[in-house]
Amino acid sequence: MADQYVVIGHPIEHSKSPQIHARFAQQTGQDIRYDKLLAPLDGFEPAVRRFIAAGGRGANVTVPFKLDAFALAETRSTRAEAAGAVNTLSFDGGRIIGDNTDGVGLVRDIVVNAGVPVAAKRILLLGAGGAARGVLLPLLEQAPAQIVIANRTLSRAEELVAQFAQPAGRLAAANFHDLEGAFDIVINATSASLSAELPPVPATVFASNSFAYDMMYGAQPTVFMQMAAAHGAAVRDGLGMLVEQAAEAFFVWRGVRPDTAPVYQWLRSQL
Ligand code: ATR
Repeated sequence: MADQYVVIGHPIEHSKSPQIHARFAQQTGQDIRYDKLLAPLDGFEPAVRRFIAAGGRGANVTVPFKLDAFALAETRSTRAEAAGAVNTLSFDGGRIIGDNTDGVGLVRDIVVNAGVPVAAKRILLLGAGGAARGVLLPLLEQAPAQIVIANRTLSRAEELVAQFAQPAGRLAAANFHDLEGAFDIVINATSASLSAELPPVPATVFASNSFAYDMMYGAQPTVFMQMAAAHGAAVRDGLGMLVEQAAEAFFVWRGVRPDTAPVYQWLRSQL
């Protein structure tokens, strides 16, 4: 019987993960089965335990369960600890192992797919919620010159800065209206795009050689991408991050790295 995996969330119907993993499996010749699992809002752990009892080997975890998955994991990777959230669970001989592939997915999409190095760059990270925290360690590991975290609620950005021990000046918190100068890379990790809103970022953060990345994606450029492009920045949405975080989870489970480009192209054509 094929090894079984699921993506667990609430809601889950919209998830593209089964299609992505089916393509990875076909491409690499891995014999897996990957389904959607809707867990009740107050029933994450029992749903996971039932899946393990039925022989499940791993799970991707999406909204709103990434913190529950963190709590349930008996062992956690360094990047899951740093993210404070788990999006990838592995079930190994009864043990529950938690990992987080979101940050690596973002970095790979920027550095490899978009061809924009993060090393020695000045980075602006918009937002200080779970999405921002999830990508900080992999971004810092690229040795940027500086990461400034701007958030509507400054204290959340300051809390995030305090969690990551860095050399003085490497990581800083700011209000949107205090941002000065242009940045090489601007990453939108706020949930503003979900409601077609724009984080109140001053246009001066963009220059003609800036690269602007929205973690959200859709058939049309987000309002954030439209604003960045109007001020001369090159822009990219988060579809590549979705595919890359899935590829990293596939690698964690199967030890094989799929080719993400054709899966990305196919998904883009479906939007
Ligand atoms: P997620 O897991 O998606 O990061 P979250 O933890 O609720 O969700 O965080 C949402 C982030 O988007 C926060 O940084 C939030 O700012 P506050 O901390 O000030 O609430 C930010 N956010 C949401 N809507 C926004 C908007 N319209 N403009 C600017 N920032 C917004």
